[in-house]
Amino acid sequence: MAETLTITDNRTGKQYEVPVTDGVIRATDLRQVKSGPDDPGLMTYDPAFMNTASCRSRITFIDGDKGILEYRGYPIEQLAEGSSYLETAYLIVVGELPTSDQLESWKGAITRHAALPENIEKLMEGFQQDAHPMGVFLSTVGALSTYYPDAKHISDEQSRSTQIHRLIAKVPTIAAYAYRHGIGQPLNQPDGNLSFTGNFLSMLFQTKEAKYKVNPVLEKALDVLFILHVDHEQNCSTSAMRGIGSSQVDPYSAMAGAAAALYGPLHGGANEAVLRMLNEIGHVDKVPAFIKRVKAGEGRLMGFGHRVYKSYDPRAKIIKRTADEVFEVTGRNPLLDIALELERIALQDDYFVSRKLYPNVDFYSGLIYEAMKFPVTMFPVMFAIARTSGWIAQWQEMVLDSEQKISRPRQIYLGSARRDYVTIAKRT
Ligand code: CMC
Repeated sequence: MAETLTITDNRTGKQYEVPVTDGVIRATDLRQVKSGPDDPGLMTYDPAFMNTASCRSRITFIDGDKGILEYRGYPIEQLAEGSSYLETAYLIVVGELPTSDQLESWKGAITRHAALPENIEKLMEGFQQDAHPMGVFLSTVGALSTYYPDAKHISDEQSRSTQIHRLIAKVPTIAAYAYRHGIGQPLNQPDGNLSFTGNFLSMLFQTKEAKYKVNPVLEKALDVLFILHVDHEQNCSTSAMRGIGSSQVDPYSAMAGAAAALYGPLHGGANEAVLRMLNEIGHVDKVPAFIKRVKAGEGRLMGFGHRVYKSYDPRAKIIKRTADEVFEVTGRNPLLDIALELERIALQDDYFVSRKLYPNVDFYSGLIYEAMKFPVTMFPVMFAIARTSGWIAQWQEMVLDSEQKISRPRQIYLGSARRDYVTIAKRT
């Protein structure tokens, strides 16, 4: 028997049967519920989309209460253990793990597209040296739309596939250039003989004097961090990607908007904010006073809390382990003690326990990035490099979904009733 929800409208005494499919009702089915002939029909009010599904998706599954995260059905723990960032990017975009031939051809396509067009490099030279690399990143991604006008053909599978390769391939180069520009150094060109993360590290840290030797532990740690950041279903930046993309604009323009959404301190900018917070606290002894201020509403414990996870973020668990491996190479980050003390106190304090606030992905990732010598302003950019594959997988799913239309929420109008214009001379 089909599942339905029976709604009784006490205003009119009428009853309605609304179908329930996959555990949801369609909000538009409520439009039939009217209090009278002039009523346009019932709507739902859901600021911040706390309880509204905007799409059907087959990409990422999260169970926030149990702390489960899966990409295309594969548990994040298994991918972090056995996969690589590029293989996971293939999985997220295509839907299945690649065969070795498919993986080789995917890697080949990504490697071929890694360099930036000369005009784009010139454009990047125009940014101020102290420009925030995330601002440089999102502007440059948007600027790529001017260089690849073929990207407008979003219904053409071949064109989509080319833009997907270009985006995954070019984001590390853009990120590396944003960093090199900030330290007043020229861009190191991509090296196709290195791995995805090895090449990224080399573009960042190669000097004229000596060839940069990629440390395999750091290369692997960065790869794990990238895997953990690939996708996270309908978060703020992914919703931006889908929302902007729903106007049928090219994926570079849509992704510039997604990156802008990620930049904020409540989202991907949180990893940068965590490091600033740890530095500001400065010493383990000052942790209790800081927690007291957070509880008094004078700021947030950055890197804690999540809209969906109401238990320990599974990504944070893996990152904590990765941090130990990295610190064996780089030496222990002295801020780790402050972070551990914050976590220890918060996990037994009723304020955090009752609100189900646990460390999220951003709490420990910044400590690793800092130990690897990335400046804090690069932290959200690292998030953006990895999230690119998730954004474009979600964008592609949206483009191919016949149920999707241009994104256009409704509102409850509470402004003035109709009134007549008054000339300025007559206004009091
Ligand atoms: N520190 C202190 N209190 C908090 C925190 C925090 N980090 N997060 C939430 N709360 C409190 C909040 O004040 C509220 O308390 P009350 O009910 O008394 O008003 C309650 O917990 C619920 O918070 P909310 O703001 O309604 O929850 P939300 O789902 O809208 O926000 C969040 C989720 C991630 C934006 C929030 O937890 C936060 O601001 N965390 C710090 C920033 C951060 O680490 N962001 C990274 C998120 S993970 C990476 C990503 O995917 O972007």
